[in-house]
Amino acid sequence: MWLFGYGSLIWKVDFPIRRRVVGYIKGYVRRFYQGSPEHRGAPLKPGRVVTLLPSSNCEDVVWGVAYEIRKEDVAGVVDSLDVREKSGYEKKTVTFYPTDDSIEDKTPFDLTVYIADPKNEWYREEPDMKTIAAEIAECRGMSGPNAEYLFKLADAVRQMTPQACDPHLFELEAEVKRIVEAKQKP
Ligand code: BEZ
Repeated sequence: MWLFGYGSLIWKVDFPIRRRVVGYIKGYVRRFYQGSPEHRGAPLKPGRVVTLLPSSNCEDVVWGVAYEIRKEDVAGVVDSLDVREKSGYEKKTVTFYPTDDSIEDKTPFDLTVYIADPKNEWYREEPDMKTIAAEIAECRGMSGPNAEYLFKLADAVRQMTPQACDPHLFELEAEVKRIVEAKQKP
């Protein structure tokens, strides 16, 4: 089984993998539209984590990582992810385009990805970036501050592929940094 990571899975892999390959999927955009009532927020103040939205521009890409999981590990990994990401994600199949130098054959292949169901109770589409940034700047949950999740994701995407075009991610990073720094000023 191959699994696509585009959020915390890029930097936090707590399950056994056989291979990690950098690349992208097409026809989606990454958005902080999924509420996080536990990991990066609380039920009354849910943080925000990423999901994928189908894009009207089929040339839009989302950079991430494909993990190959051995047959004998698949059930355990899927169980642990279903628990880790229990608030509203569903498994879908998408085509992955590998770019990693570690892989000789760059033929695209299908893999599994977790995408939030827009009908789930924690889904919160929000067109205003400032509103999203203000929420991320003030929320925290059992895995830590919501801002840390955003900063780790932006760093990981930049490191993986410096040419990545992801204005939603990088504009939010800049805005939340501004808010956090302004709060730290005496
Ligand atoms: C991820 O790629 O980190 C991920 C996103 C949503 C659900 C599960 C994993």
